[in-house]
Amino acid sequence: MPELIRDPSLDSTLDVLREGYPFLYNRSQRFDSDIFQIQLMGMKAICLHGAEAAELFYNPKLFIRKGAIPRRVQTTLMGIDAIQTRDNGEHRCRKEMFMSLMEPASRQRLMSLLAEQWQRYAHRWEQMDRVVLFREAQEILCRAACAWAGVPLEEKEVRLRARDFGNMVDGFGGVGPRHWHGKQARSRGEKWMRSIIRAIRKGTLPVQEGTAAHTVAWYRDAEGELLDVQMAAIELMNAIRPIVAISTYITFAALALHEYPPYRQLLRDPAEDYAELFVQEVRRYFPFTPFVGALVREDFTWHGFEFPKGTMVLLDVYGTLRDERWWQDPEVFWPERFRQWQGSPYDFIPQGGGEYLTGHRCAGEWITIEAMKQAVLFLNDGIRYDVPAQDLSYDLTRMPTLPASGFVMTEVRATG
Ligand code: HEM
Repeated sequence: MPELIRDPSLDSTLDVLREGYPFLYNRSQRFDSDIFQIQLMGMKAICLHGAEAAELFYNPKLFIRKGAIPRRVQTTLMGIDAIQTRDNGEHRCRKEMFMSLMEPASRQRLMSLLAEQWQRYAHRWEQMDRVVLFREAQEILCRAACAWAGVPLEEKEVRLRARDFGNMVDGFGGVGPRHWHGKQARSRGEKWMRSIIRAIRKGTLPVQEGTAAHTVAWYRDAEGELLDVQMAAIELMNAIRPIVAISTYITFAALALHEYPPYRQLLRDPAEDYAELFVQEVRRYFPFTPFVGALVREDFTWHGFEFPKGTMVLLDVYGTLRDERWWQDPEVFWPERFRQWQGSPYDFIPQGGGEYLTGHRCAGEWITIEAMKQAVLFLNDGIRYDVPAQDLSYDLTRMPTLPASGFVMTEVRATG
């Protein structure tokens, strides 16, 4: 039986924070192995890297999620005991609820709401000296996501709510003030969502069937029970917050347009859907999710390595997207590589891999791709702008990361 390579560090928790995104990839390269072991938060963790390992990780018969996500991530990013931590029939039933919101007509409604907001903001930006795209995109996405979900949003609260959704995401990899801001944002957001769920159930807030608010408020689990108000609030937010998080990818897409100007012309080519190739490469090339975790369901072996029941297992998302066995010249931004991509659910995993319904793959992947395409085409042709000197570097030791300036635009002019 082969021995698992062990990282010599007594505990790697601080190294994860110090090294950030490349932590797992650095080790898989150093050990020249797709599997190795570390100590994390005082516990043994088996680390996996690459498409073959991703196929193992996304086999729901082998892993569970209950107990796999640290409390500090749940109290900021996704909420305590949400869908991300559920298994078996309970997960399946709740995932069906999320996937029902991703039907083409529902996605189309969101895209129309977003298109309206981009136009509106473009005219506002004409009056501004300096536009920070990341902040503005958060507001645009927040307005459209709330309208799409059936959640009323008053004009005076737009900025606060948009920042709060952003801070929940920003808090997941942070310690100290960043973590604390994330927690504070989450408790404010959950309180707001609880009031929405209560009002819908009391009949004082009319809401259209098919919206996220209606669907979550009236969703019944496998036992035929409504979710308790707190759980419903968390899951409603799990349909809205990640839409606002697309602002991170949109900011990276703006950076890519700026750094690779030949794509501006190619994106106008009517013969090919360049926007699709472009946004797929943005999701591969730029960092967002560092890794995902699960626990071993029952003892099993893989390639002779033992996976004892209850062991924490981490899958390297960041590194799998830049491994040259699957991605030729991975450090080159090259959208055309996606012409040849075979569509495997295991090598291209920026939002998780495997199956949507039976596994934990991101429910919002189609929305993410469509919203990014729309934003890229808008930035390319819906406005003209200058990009003044600024710090566009992004720090890989910070999770999540972003171009430092948030992507500043000046002299914005709407073309439409
Ligand atoms: C799950 C990333 C956008 C809803 C996930 C997972 C990742 C992820 C890494 C977990 C995969 C796993 O545990 O194996 C992202 C990124 C996004 C994004 C980077 C871009 C901003 C969205 C959107 C929505 C959404 C727009 C919905 C509107 C969900 C839900 C889950 C999930 C409900 C839980 C799925 C489950 O546990 O079965 N996402 N996501 N996400 N995402 Fe996303």
